[in-house]
Amino acid sequence: MTNVDELINDIYNRSLEARKVVSKYIHHTPLDYSTTFSRMSGARVYLKYENLQKTGSFKVRGALYKLSKLVGKVEGVVAASAGNHAQGVAYAAKCFGMKAVIVMPEVASIAKVEATKGYGAEVVLYGTIYDEAEEKAREIARERGYEFIPAFDDPDIIAGQATLGHEILEDLEDVDVVVVPIGGGGLISGISVALRKKKPSIRIVGVEPANVPKFTLSLRAGHPVTVKPKPTVADGLAVKRPGQLTFRIIRELVDEVVTVTEDELSQAIYLLLERGKVLAEGAGAASLAAILSGKVRGIEGKKTVAVISGGNIDLTMLNRILVRGLAFTGRIATIYGYVPDQPGMLAKVATIIGKHRANILEVLHDRSDIQAPTWHTALRVIIEVPSREEVKKILEELSREGFEFYQISG
Ligand SMILES: Cc1ncc(COP(=O)(O)O)c(C=O)c1O
Repeated sequence: MTNVDELINDIYNRSLEARKVVSKYIHHTPLDYSTTFSRMSGARVYLKYENLQKTGSFKVRGALYKLSKLVGKVEGVVAASAGNHAQGVAYAAKCFGMKAVIVMPEVASIAKVEATKGYGAEVVLYGTIYDEAEEKAREIARERGYEFIPAFDDPDIIAGQATLGHEILEDLEDVDVVVVPIGGGGLISGISVALRKKKPSIRIVGVEPANVPKFTLSLRAGHPVTVKPKPTVADGLAVKRPGQLTFRIIRELVDEVVTVTEDELSQAIYLLLERGKVLAEGAGAASLAAILSGKVRGIEGKKTVAVISGGNIDLTMLNRILVRGLAFTGRIATIYGYVPDQPGMLAKVATIIGKHRANILEVLHDRSDIQAPTWHTALRVIIEVPSREEVKKILEELSREGFEFYQISG
């Protein structure tokens, strides 16, 4: 095994070549200052919009460089992925006129399956989890003589992802801190290799979900360890074990790895959409989640880049996050109380709510609540409100009119 400095130098040199290759097929994505997130965090926050990349994520960078080296040498390529790697490989294969087979777990979202097929790849649905899909992909590779394309633990994949680091430096030479989401570690390894070489003083921070803390635990143990992932909205980061190469590079070049909770991830997706008009997936919002939750310390006044690594979010998931986000920020509230079980009472409550410019989203009229006083019925009302203060005013007015209500969420 080469020593880590040789490994880093080798990947750096490949990344210079990768830049020339991939730039023909992808966008140099924007890097923009965000007044809102700077105000919220105290740092000078810049967002690197890789959600606007071809296929909706950075993954296409590594896939393009890897496949560029295989053109004419293999019959085709095969990859296993339920997410962005699938689309990256499919798109890259199309660019080079190569055959591609993508094995996806049977539970993969229809939208992702269709997007992958849309790039011309053959999609094989197999197994319930990633590991089973990968086994199948390797079997297909053997049978057909195709090359298996790893998702992150490969020098060419890492060198391809490094092109994102080169773009950051080109656009913001005096950057102080870069915050990057970590799945298997290919993205942050590439970015670190590109940045450290030219700017040794830069601080590089990795972010992973608290529900899948494989790098946090592996770095602590001093070697890659396997974790049992709990569900996370950042599905792109739900990798059980660091790669061999990525672990060595990250241990050498990354200053620290922090974790974020599911609520912090959801909040960041919500805020990116509401304040920034940016659609990010869970993994893509992780770096901003870490900045806004104060997990990345010492960034006050520092030029801090959050890599928004992807935007391929399932719309049903987005809906749940938005409703939760609205409740979290006090824009959706649930109130509960008791009213006399007589005609006209519901209308009276509704009128008071309406007076405060609140919109009723749902009403549950529950006669089975045995806590209710005699001849009363329980009422649970979900309302959309202009602000938290308005909920208080609604409760006060209901109370003045003889209705005892309290807030149970929002
Ligand atoms: C949107 C997004 N961000 C970040 C990552 C993490 O990348 P890596 O596995 O190279 O660490 C992924 C991986 O699939 C991803 O899809």
